[in-house]
Amino acid sequence: MSAAIEFRNVSKSFGDKQVLKNISLTIDEGSIAVILGPSGTGKSVLIRCLIGLLKPDADGGEIWVFGTNVAAIDESKRADRKKLYDVRKRFGMLFQDGALFDDMTVGENVAFPMRHHGGLRESEIQARVADKLARVGLKDAVNKMPSELSGGMRKRAAFARAIANEPSFVLCDEPSSGLDPVMAATLDELILEMHHELNIGFIVITHDTAEARMLGGRMGLLNKGELVVPFDATDKVLRSNHPAIRQFFDRQKSGPIQVV
Ligand SMILES: Nc1ncnc2c1ncn2[C@@H]1O[C@H](COP(=O)(O)OP(=O)(O)O)[C@@H](O)[C@H]1O
Ligand SMILES: [Mg+2]
Repeated sequence: MSAAIEFRNVSKSFGDKQVLKNISLTIDEGSIAVILGPSGTGKSVLIRCLIGLLKPDADGGEIWVFGTNVAAIDESKRADRKKLYDVRKRFGMLFQDGALFDDMTVGENVAFPMRHHGGLRESEIQARVADKLARVGLKDAVNKMPSELSGGMRKRAAFARAIANEPSFVLCDEPSSGLDPVMAATLDELILEMHHELNIGFIVITHDTAEARMLGGRMGLLNKGELVVPFDATDKVLRSNHPAIRQFFDRQKSGPIQVV
């Protein structure tokens, strides 16, 4: 396996507030990576840097994504815009508030990213929509409106949309926030199923330790913008005696992680 993604000493500030501090990590193609951490610690900023929605500081490190240093992209240059576009095309998104478009059928929701990126004939789009919906167990929902679906089905539909363009990775920013534990477990199962069946990689941001354990793969715990121990295999990180790891996984009130 080769590293598809590599953060090298990445730092990011907003004004005088440093949000990411010297982050280094590698993620292999087709693997599962979990970024854990309390709220407000830079998890979403990290993901936004990964796909070039935010830029690290000047001299704030490198972010290699499928051979492109996204941190060095200059969007005023046409060739760089093309590179960024090619990088983004390889990522699907599943956000906590990644609601479906209410005024479109489920099928049109799934077709949306395909139409956005273009290049597919209508018959191909329809075939792919059917395939993705079948994958998530929603074969019969193609003509339904989102309002006709249960909460769990809506999550599944959002999942189908996230894999519409057959991405290398799906970025999941707190996908299970606000879900009850049963539905959260169902979502994690879906992630593992897609991972195994379709060889899709997942980068999952969460503050749910049960979810982190269930997904396995590799993991990092971010606290105040820093990885508290090196990004590594989840079972290895779980065995760490680092006080921040213990505090987070053993649910302790006091320790290095402070409520802000
Ligand atoms: N565009 C922005 N401008 C200024 N500050 C920001 C911006 N985005 C995030 N932040 C700040 O960066 C910190 C980390 O945010 P975030 O990555 O969203 O945290 P979380 O770990 O909960 O996802 C927060 O203090 C937030 O206010
Ligand atoms: Mg966030």
